Amino acid sequence: VSVGAQQSEYGIVIEPGALERTGAITRRAVSRKARRVALISNRTVFDLYGGVVEKSLKALGFEVLVFLIGDGERFKNLRTLSSALDFLTTQRLERSDVVLALGGGVVGDLAGFAAAVYMRGISLIQVPTTLLSQIDSSVGGKTGVNVTSGKNLVGAFHQPSAVVIDPLTLRTLPERELTAGWCEAVKHGAVGDRDLFDKTVSLLKAKPQSPERMARKLSALIAAQCAFKASIVAEDPRESAERADARSRKILNFGHTVGHALEAATRYKRFRHGEAVGYGMLAAGEISKRLGLLNPDGLRLLSTAVQACGPLPTTRGISIPDVIQLLKHDKKSAGGEIKWVLLKGIGQAKIVSGKEIPKDLLLASLQNAFQFQL
Ligand SMILES: NC(=O)c1ccc[n+]([C@@H]2O[C@H](COP(=O)([O-])OP(=O)(O)OC[C@H]3O[C@@H](n4cnc5c(N)ncnc54)[C@H](O)[C@@H]3O)[C@@H](O)[C@H]2O)c1
Repeated sequence: VSVGAQQSEYGIVIEPGALERTGAITRRAVSRKARRVALISNRTVFDLYGGVVEKSLKALGFEVLVFLIGDGERFKNLRTLSSALDFLTTQRLERSDVVLALGGGVVGDLAGFAAAVYMRGISLIQVPTTLLSQIDSSVGGKTGVNVTSGKNLVGAFHQPSAVVIDPLTLRTLPERELTAGWCEAVKHGAVGDRDLFDKTVSLLKAKPQSPERMARKLSALIAAQCAFKASIVAEDPRESAERADARSRKILNFGHTVGHALEAATRYKRFRHGEAVGYGMLAAGEISKRLGLLNPDGLRLLSTAVQACGPLPTTRGISIPDVIQLLKHDKKSAGGEIKWVLLKGIGQAKIVSGKEIPKDLLLASLQNAFQFQL
């Protein structure tokens, strides 16, 4: 991945068994002076994969210091960040040393932010272990934490020195986490690339296969997904407020406007983020169709793809007027105006101002999208 004007470059290694090569990959990616690695993870992931990662780092001469955070989104906060920074400080990590994030997006965002601000930035290795983090959050350099008034409101851009992706880690991932990850994979295809969309859907429908075959096919798909994300990030590394074209980083928010509102309407208890994005994509698809941007076949393809991701929690009991009210708080709005990411076709995004979407059209679109149940 080559990012931005400073030409910061890093490699993404994707292969079954890659965890065993973490030490070698880290050694090549960071300063020759690096001696110590602060391995940040949580208990769940560390118990499963900490041993192999630690062993491979030690084999390459690194001293490994382990810091575990709580498991869950609620631990992605300033208090956890502060204790992680205390850990790095008391262990006297030096400028040439390394932070390694082993886990899903929560660990990656928090450890990444700690690496971004400790001594104004030290090297970071991302070792993502959820589907979402393997295709999305570990690539692109966004790091951060949640604060009381909102998610991801405090953070920094800090590109990793390398990303190590082992698809075999997905074998232990709970089913709902896989569904959430698949929804984000469908999102990438839907906004960016028809070929990526087709590849994603065909692998989704091909389940189940032998674990080895699946891991090989998954590696190829994760690579295609990362390449897509990297291509968007390379051109718009800091999500420029000025850009609203079909290749701007904003298109990655497809499904997120309604998704965030659904999460907020259910107090972040009912949906995994990716599941809410599943409904959000259907809502954006409906709006696109009703505005005459997307043809009915395109919407059908999108619905089939979302269905193939896995069962989504029910939307029963959620008030649509409440969701519409919550849309106004979307943090991606500019000057108080919602910027909708819609579709002109599968693989073709278009950013549309909220002013161009009549209220009754929005209401009818949400009604239709939320009726979708498996
Ligand atoms: N930085 C970015 O660009 C970006 C992009 C998208 C999302 N995010 C962030 O990512 C976070 C969500 O990440 P997530 O979906 O990976 O959730 P997560 O990190 O909470 O992981 C989900 C659950 O799976 C467990 N787990 C992780 N790997 C496992 C494995 N291999 N086997 C068994 N269990 C495993 C975790 O312990 C956790 O309980 C959110 O905070 C979101 O804001 C960041």
